[in-house]
Amino acid sequence: MQSDVSSDWYNSGAIIPIKVIRATAEMSRYAADLQSHGRRLGLVPTMGYLHKGHLSLMNLLDGQCDVKAASIFVNPIQFGPSEDLSRYPRDEARDLELLEAAGCEVVYSPPPDEVYPPGFQTYVEVEELQRPLCGSFRPGHFRGVATVVLKLFNVTGCSVAAFGQKDFQQAMVIRRMVADLNVPVKLIFGPTIRESDGLAMSSRNVYLSPEERASALTISRSLFASREACSAGDKNARKLAAEIEKALQSDSRIRIEYVDIVDSETLTAIEKIARPARAAIAVYVGKTRLIDNIELL
Ligand code: PAF
Repeated sequence: MQSDVSSDWYNSGAIIPIKVIRATAEMSRYAADLQSHGRRLGLVPTMGYLHKGHLSLMNLLDGQCDVKAASIFVNPIQFGPSEDLSRYPRDEARDLELLEAAGCEVVYSPPPDEVYPPGFQTYVEVEELQRPLCGSFRPGHFRGVATVVLKLFNVTGCSVAAFGQKDFQQAMVIRRMVADLNVPVKLIFGPTIRESDGLAMSSRNVYLSPEERASALTISRSLFASREACSAGDKNARKLAAEIEKALQSDSRIRIEYVDIVDSETLTAIEKIARPARAAIAVYVGKTRLIDNIELL
C-alpha cells in the first residue's frame, strides 16, 4: 500500500512510512476505497500514549484483516468535568513509531472538531451495562466510549476491532452495543497485559511516583490472591471482596473507589460465585486512578 507521509505530524527527522489521516472525510474515503477493493481493515482504537497492551492488540489482528489500523484520539466526551482530560499523557511521534513497528499501516488521529463538529448531539447509551462499577463513579463515561467507538467503526469501516480486557466493563459495553445495533464488526478481546511484577499496563502508570508504583502492586496482588482463594474453594463473594479491601486499605497511599465481585455477563454484584465472575477494582493511588480486574470463575 502506498504511504502518504506529510511532514506536519512528525518533526523529529525520522521518516515513518505510516499513513496518518486527520480529516474524517479523508478517513471515510480511504475506507471506501479499501472496501471497493475487497480489503478488510482491522482497528485498534486507542487514546494514544501506547504501551505493550495496545501493541499486543495490534498483533491480535494478524490474519484477521488486510490492513492494520489504529486510531489515536483522546475522546473528550468520556472524561468528566473534574477528570484528567487536559493532563492525559500524549506523545504522538512515539506512538506512530511503535505502531509502525507493530505492522500498523494507517492511523486515524483526528483533532476533536473532526469527531465532534459544531452541532453534534447524538449519543449511544448501553443502558444497564453502563451503570455499575466505573459507571457509578464516572457518569457519562460509557456513553462517551460507546459513542466514539461507534463513530470510529463507521468512519474507518473496520471489519474487526480489538480491545483489551483490562477495561472489562468497556469491553462488555462495546460487545452489547455491537450486538444491539447490528454493527458489522467482529470484536476481539485481548488479555490484560501486565508488567513482570503484575501491575496492569496503563497509559496512566506514567503518573505514578516510584513509591506510588510500589503501592499500586497491591492491586494486582490482591486480585491474584482472590483468584487463588476462589480456586481453593472460597466462593463467598462478599468475603473475597472484603479480603481485597483489607489488603488495599493497609496502604495509606491507596484510596478505594470500589471493589466489586460481579457476574461476568451482567456486571451485577453477586453473593456466591457459581458462574463466570470477575473481581473488579478501581482505586486512586495518590492522584492517579487505576483499574484492574480478574476472572475468578
Ligand atoms: O480504551 C480506550 O483507550 C478508550 O476508551 C477507547 C476505546 C479508545 C475509546 O475512546
